[in-house]
Amino acid sequence: MPCPVDFAQDPIASLRALAAQQGALAEFWVADQRVYLASAPDLIQRALTCKQLPKRQGRGAATCLLGQGLMTSQGDLNRCQRRRLRPLFSPSAQATWPHIVHEETEALCQCWRPGQVLDSVAELGRLSLAVACRCLLGQRLPEETMLLESLEEILNAGHRPALLQTIRTRLDGLANRLLQTGQGPLIERLLNLPIDDELRRDEIITMLLGAHETTAVTMAWCMRLLALHPSVDAASQARAVVAEALRLYPPGWIIARQVDAPVHLGEFRLEGPATLLMSPMVTHYLAEVWPEPECFRPQRFAQGKPPAGSYFPFGGGDRVCIGESMAWLEATQAISIMAARWRLVPVDSGPVKLRPLAALRPACGLPARVERRPDKACGEPPGAEDEAGLPVQKARSCD
Ligand code: HEM
Repeated sequence: MPCPVDFAQDPIASLRALAAQQGALAEFWVADQRVYLASAPDLIQRALTCKQLPKRQGRGAATCLLGQGLMTSQGDLNRCQRRRLRPLFSPSAQATWPHIVHEETEALCQCWRPGQVLDSVAELGRLSLAVACRCLLGQRLPEETMLLESLEEILNAGHRPALLQTIRTRLDGLANRLLQTGQGPLIERLLNLPIDDELRRDEIITMLLGAHETTAVTMAWCMRLLALHPSVDAASQARAVVAEALRLYPPGWIIARQVDAPVHLGEFRLEGPATLLMSPMVTHYLAEVWPEPECFRPQRFAQGKPPAGSYFPFGGGDRVCIGESMAWLEATQAISIMAARWRLVPVDSGPVKLRPLAALRPACGLPARVERRPDKACGEPPGAEDEAGLPVQKARSCD
């Protein structure tokens, strides 16, 4: 069946239309390629853990930039490198992270002034890159601005191999410098592995690019949602706020697996060769699983774990995000610190145009005005409080 909406023009609307028309498993063609879309939670759970459905072989842009790093490698190389790099995210490695997140977030909050207008995505991009550099490399980098600019260039590059190659050469220069210093948890670990320098550079670039954009955008959505829903208390509900922001705006909006040969998925038989897609932007919005899915309701996550396969902002199975623990820790702690003092009030509180690139991000950033949070501790007049001691404000039930 042909795709009902122009896939290239609006992939999210296309995927939602396909799921609405065809149900749990949709089948369609893009040019001469067979594509499936699994949207039902039980199929997603099966697909993410199915050994016969490997991650789709990276082509073009991703491989050009990341080479054989964790994000783009396949099979044995991926399994082996994951095992080798997992200790970077172990509980003992995590011991230093809260201190780093605290220091970097405090430093950022100190720079803000009431009335200042900023782009939350760019602002929190600087924060998450600083945190990633300190957690993984043990230091801030003089090249952080270059890294942020490179990421913007990458996102706007589309499929332009020559431009991507130029960016990769620039990033290789940074990776080589880091390897020469030999310092920091990631570099020390890579230098102790029996791998060549090219793979070491691939892993450094993969981690630095993978670590910060996704977390930055997530924190920016959290701050926007908190400003639009002032009755939600960030301090006591930080994890639920992050979880709900990741449900509504999952940066990893599309996950692709390769169907090489016929395979059964629940009651369905998939024919290969084909691509199997799963999108949190479809499944996270299924009304039968998530009532009033468009609404921001962190309390959904107070009622225990969502059904298997219905919530997968970090993917799942063997290829689940290796940095998930860092993302949760950073986002929950940083928004608690920021929201205790500041509100990032959207300049425009209307719907935000989304740009589904490699990661889902707002098309024009998230411009916001910095406002001091009304708080007794700041010496400002206390507002009325409800029975739970939370400030009484007009809560909007839906973003
Ligand atoms: C809110 C923040 C984040 C989100 C939403 C996110 C999302 C994801 C998703 C959905 C995948 C799986 C993609 C697939 O199966 O095709 C993934 C993989 C990955 N992520 Fe994250 N991520 C986040 C933060 C991080 C951080 C902080 C790091 C590094 C410190 C990181 C590093 C990686 C890497 C290296 C992979 C590839 C793993 C593999 O395929 O073996 N991510 N991420």
